[in-house]
Formats: sequence, structure tokens, C-alpha cells
Amino acid sequence: MNSVSTIVELRLQIAGWRAAGDRIAFVPTMGNLHEGHLKLVDAAKEQADRVVVSIFVNPMQFGANEDLDAYPKTPEQDSALLEERGADLLFLPAVADIYPPSKSEVTVVEVPEISDILCGASRPGHFRGVTTVVAKLFNMVQPDVALFGEKDLQQLIAIRRMTTDLNFPIEIIGVPIVRESDGLAMSSRNGYLNESERSVAPRLYQIISKIREKLQSGVSDHLLLEEEAAAKLHAAGFRCDYITIRRLSDLGEPDEGESQLAILVAAWLGTTRLIDNIVINLD
Ligand code: PAJ
Repeated sequence: MNSVSTIVELRLQIAGWRAAGDRIAFVPTMGNLHEGHLKLVDAAKEQADRVVVSIFVNPMQFGANEDLDAYPKTPEQDSALLEERGADLLFLPAVADIYPPSKSEVTVVEVPEISDILCGASRPGHFRGVTTVVAKLFNMVQPDVALFGEKDLQQLIAIRRMTTDLNFPIEIIGVPIVRESDGLAMSSRNGYLNESERSVAPRLYQIISKIREKLQSGVSDHLLLEEEAAAKLHAAGFRCDYITIRRLSDLGEPDEGESQLAILVAAWLGTTRLIDNIVINLD
């Protein structure tokens, strides 16, 4: 696997593959890779001849009081894992390559509606940062296909919308959530949990799984299900940002009888914010 850090080297490498007629898949990440990220690489290899992975901890998507500086950085380990998994190119840009110093404000990409609800309400500006950097990376890599995890369902939906609205000729593929054996969704942020928080963390998935079970058995009072679940989270020691049943297509409030749903949760254990979701089809 080749590693490059400048946009010029990236374009040169990709131009060679394009000239040879190769189909190119792209997996953007912030590094500290785990099996969830690596499953995206596996899925990418099934889609294309060449797999490009980026590692860039994107300052624009972190709020002022968030964990930008503490975000785990393990480039050597990541590079070895990607090599093992058969990625073809690792793009490791510096902040100054992606955001050249400028005295004026930079152009941003903002997807309306979806960016302002749920995680967008808890983390103002977060999705503007995500869609801006992903648009820039799309223009640098110019892939045929890009892969994103369903772990970040709202992010996936925002990126699909951006891709459609801005006519990027890129197919967006969502990859199912990879979980630890106790159900906890894999995340780079799980490493922040202390031992006792780690033992409580799987309750998140158990509690949304219970909502799924009840919806599937015909319970239709969403508010009641949400309130019960929030109480359980609180009793387990979480501070809840939201736990909610939404329409899958745009994460809006579902109409009565809506069958394509997502159960989404964001909650804090100590200083760590965890998210999870389950997609459900009631047909
Ligand atoms: P990061 O959190 O590193 O995640 C990179 C990709 O891995 C995302 O598409 C995310 O949904 C996916 N992923 C993470 N954990 C997963 C799991 N347990 N199962 C399946 N997929 C998982 O998401 C970002 O980085 C950034 O916002 C980014 C898109 C790179 C833009 O900066």
C-alpha cells in the first residue's frame, strides 16, 4: 500500500489508475481504525479495483468544547491494518493541505434540515464540518463509489443528500454497524470509557433493541416507548441527548403507519458521548 500526504501526489496516483480504466472506491475516516472501519474497506474492495482510504481528523466538525485535541491518533497501527486488509492508497493530509491558511472565511457546504436535528442540534456546526470536508475529499479523490457506516446514520443521510444536491457522480454505499461481542457499536471514542463505564455502555444497544422488539410486536405509541427508554438510560447512569423513533428517509418525525423507521440514541457516559441506532422495517 502506498501512502501520500499531498493532494498533488494523491491526484497523480489516482490519474494513473484512471488511465488504466480502474474503478475507484473511497473510504474517508478520522483514523484510530477498528473493525468497523475495516469492514468499509472490505466492502470497498468488492465494489472497485482500487481502494483509497483517507485519515484526517477534521477540525471543522469539532465544536469548541469537544475532543479535537484528545482524539486518538494511531497512524502507524492504522497503516499496518489497512495494508493487511488490502487497501491500495492511504491519504494522510495535514490540516494546512485541506484548509490552507486564509484571512477570510472559507467556503462551506451545508445540507439543510438534516444538519440541524438530533446530533446537529446537540453539536451545532458539526454536520457543516462533515459535509464540507467530505465534499473537498470527494473533489480530491474523485471516486466512483464512497462507503460510509450506518453507525453514523444521520451523517450517511446528510452525505447522500449532498451528493444528490451537488450532482457528485459518486455512488454512496452504507455499511451495517459492526459491534463488539456484547453489542456495543465499535467506535474510536469507546477508548475514552473507564472500566465501569465500559461495562454499562452495552445497555445503549439493549435499550434500543427493546424498542425495536416492542415496535415489531405492534406497540405504536412512540412517545411512550421513547419515555420508557429515556428512563432506563437515566437509571443506568447515562445522560441522554436524545432517544427517538424517526422516519428512516430523512429522520423526520414519522407519520402514522410509517413502516421504514430508525431508532436513534445519543447519550453521555461521564465525558464520553456515544451514539447508536437500529434501522427497522415494519412491513
Ligand atoms: P470516523 O468516525 O473515523 O468514521 C469513518 C467511517 O467509519 C464512517 O463512515 C463511520 O460511519 C464508519 N464507522 C465507524 N464506526 C463504525 C462501526 N462500528 N460500524 C460501521 N461503520 C463504522 O465519520 C467520520 O470518521 C468522519 O465524520 C468523516 C466521514 C471521515 C468526515 O470527517
